[in-house]
Amino acid sequence: MDADALIEWALEDAVSESESPPGPPLLASAIRHAVFPGGARVRPQLCLAVAAACSAGSRDDLMVSAGAGAALELLHCASLVHDDLPCFDGADTRRGKPSVHVAYGEPIALLTGDALIVMAFSTLARTCAESPETLLRVLPIVTSAVGAPHGIVAGQAWESEREIDTATYHRAKTGALFIGAAEAGAASVGADPTPWRRLGECLGDAYQVADDLRDMLLDEDALGKPAGQDAKCARPNAASDLGPRAAMAKLNGLIEAAADSVPECKGAPALRALVHAQASRLIPASLARALA
Ligand code: IPE
Ligand code: IPE
Ligand code: MG
Ligand code: MG
Repeated sequence: MDADALIEWALEDAVSESESPPGPPLLASAIRHAVFPGGARVRPQLCLAVAAACSAGSRDDLMVSAGAGAALELLHCASLVHDDLPCFDGADTRRGKPSVHVAYGEPIALLTGDALIVMAFSTLARTCAESPETLLRVLPIVTSAVGAPHGIVAGQAWESEREIDTATYHRAKTGALFIGAAEAGAASVGADPTPWRRLGECLGDAYQVADDLRDMLLDEDALGKPAGQDAKCARPNAASDLGPRAAMAKLNGLIEAAADSVPECKGAPALRALVHAQASRLIPASLARALA
């Protein structure tokens, strides 16, 4: 099974467990709607790629890194469900479909996000059942990526402050989960996560600049979610702060820094190639050329 298929398998395994009777059918359906079909799945891909670069490739390593990757993606999906609610961004579409609260109502959307968060941690626990020491290494990485004061919860909370430092806000809202994905990939196979932190930082920053460029310059059909959200909600946006050309140059610099940050190891060339392949999908080629 290649990495993409393994990620989908691990997510299906987690989601299907929440569908067993006698659970409430609307909630089960909304959970599936929030996870499938996926978006780019970049966070679990990063987690598995770092794990593969650090590991001898045993089946156990593969399964634990897939579980960690699935947990990160479930947390990401939860954050999107909550982010789209009227009390945050009030976005009616996501991944080319109605947002969960539009399809199922606000109460079910709130609970879907809650259920996905719980599912992420139960997936992690189940995956590490044979290796409690791995769980002890991965768990603090994941909680730091999604909680307060450094993770997604903190990032979303910055939007309620009168003053926002853009870099701090973006690092918490988006960067922290990329850092968590890179570090969890290493920790899930027993490697030291420290040398991988910079890769997560660079990719997270790059990803946010790309999201800001797309938000400013593409339309809803291309995005699969509403465009111009940052201007509508008066949120910091790197493309409007710097101007689109300078933002594109910053994005390219961050991708080079990400590739350069990959520590020397057996899987380094493949990982650097993956960074460049992922980067080329962030901005449509015609737009990237226009901004060069
Ligand atoms: C969207 O993330 C939210 C951000 C933090 C930029 P993605 O662009 O990775 O969303 P999906 O998972 O591919 O839909
Ligand atoms: C979402 O950020 C990041 C989360 C923590 C959910 P945005 O609000 O900027 O992302 P999109 O544009 O809705 O995907
Ligand atoms: Mg938001
Ligand atoms: Mg949003």
